[in-house]
Amino acid sequence: QCCDIQDAPRFGYRGFHLDPCRHFISVENVKKQLDLMSMFKVNTMHFHLTEDQGWRIEIKKYPKLTSVGSIRTEGDGSFYGGFYTQEQIKEIVDYAAKRYITVIPEIDLPGHMMAAISAYPYLSCKGEQWSLRTVWGVEDIVMCPGKEDMFRFLDDIFSEIVPLFPGKYFHIGGDECPKTSWKNCPACQKRIQTEGLQAEGKHSAEERLQSYVIKRIEKMLEKRGRKIIGWDEILEGGLSENATVMSWRGEKGGIHAAKAGYDVIMSPNIYMYFNCLQSKVNEKKIGNPNRVITLEKVYNYHPVPEVLSADEAKHIKGVQANLWTEYMSALDEMEYMLYPRVAALSEVAWSKKENKDYGRFCTRLESIRRHYDVLGVNYCKKISNE
Ligand code: ACM
Ligand code: ZN
Repeated sequence: QCCDIQDAPRFGYRGFHLDPCRHFISVENVKKQLDLMSMFKVNTMHFHLTEDQGWRIEIKKYPKLTSVGSIRTEGDGSFYGGFYTQEQIKEIVDYAAKRYITVIPEIDLPGHMMAAISAYPYLSCKGEQWSLRTVWGVEDIVMCPGKEDMFRFLDDIFSEIVPLFPGKYFHIGGDECPKTSWKNCPACQKRIQTEGLQAEGKHSAEERLQSYVIKRIEKMLEKRGRKIIGWDEILEGGLSENATVMSWRGEKGGIHAAKAGYDVIMSPNIYMYFNCLQSKVNEKKIGNPNRVITLEKVYNYHPVPEVLSADEAKHIKGVQANLWTEYMSALDEMEYMLYPRVAALSEVAWSKKENKDYGRFCTRLESIRRHYDVLGVNYCKKISNE
């Protein structure tokens, strides 16, 4: 009664990312994470729904995307799969909205599309029958932008997906698309000729072809009232001004984008990839063993790089932590990687740099741990700064 509290988040976009493609996450488990994220006032869930290893969303016009594209044959011959029906997607989006969380879908294109290509082989340059990728890494076989049918396919997909996700953003991926198949494809080379996409400056003809794809896709989504977000590779070969860039290969893509006037979400793999180990002395070796991102390192991350001017810094719209699931198959492993680092993410997203203090955060962590215990969260208990 006797005071006013003035509080506002540092960033409007406070995100986390889930990858149900490498290892599936049930609707019930997605909802549990939404409950926990809302507790930490994280307001955006980036839902990575398609991959080389699995297509995870029902598309009524293309039933093979799920009957073929959602199931992979593992090395030992067993089947692994799962997908969300459109009704389940609505249920997740609605559950999130009640907790003030917007769900952004990602359809990763034109690379990372092996599940769709396995279901509909005409989508690739050679049109040959392949199966889903069963190992991790980057796939050379990608979609063929020489073919109009590829664009028709994506337009159809968007007609079904966009109405399910009412938020303003649509994530179109754009990362890790090798250009080898385009170099050897007559249809792709013809497209390069007819669209005048010859190599220019730093950009090869094939990089300019990727940029042609992104711009066409952006128009398809714009006509449906959505703005695109893409991984920082979408900067290569030129970009239209309405795109938002998600900086993942460190901060340099984000810095370049902000200087060029694009909005940016910072999600650098050196601070915000929660699939990396949280310490060298961790009792559990889940996740990417090649990099350690400690709780303290997450906490001390500042999403606005100092090299940006005040005007450029206005383009940094937020920050996001990503959880790629190659090296974790069960929910308890995923939770172990997410928590308590999500508590640190929350303060990175909410607090101004001058108000942050890792020591004080560690004191607050004591009560956060008690919440995790009561809620049955399998969080990492052994915090180390190494
Ligand atoms: C990514 O981690 N390939 C965006
Ligand atoms: Zn091609």
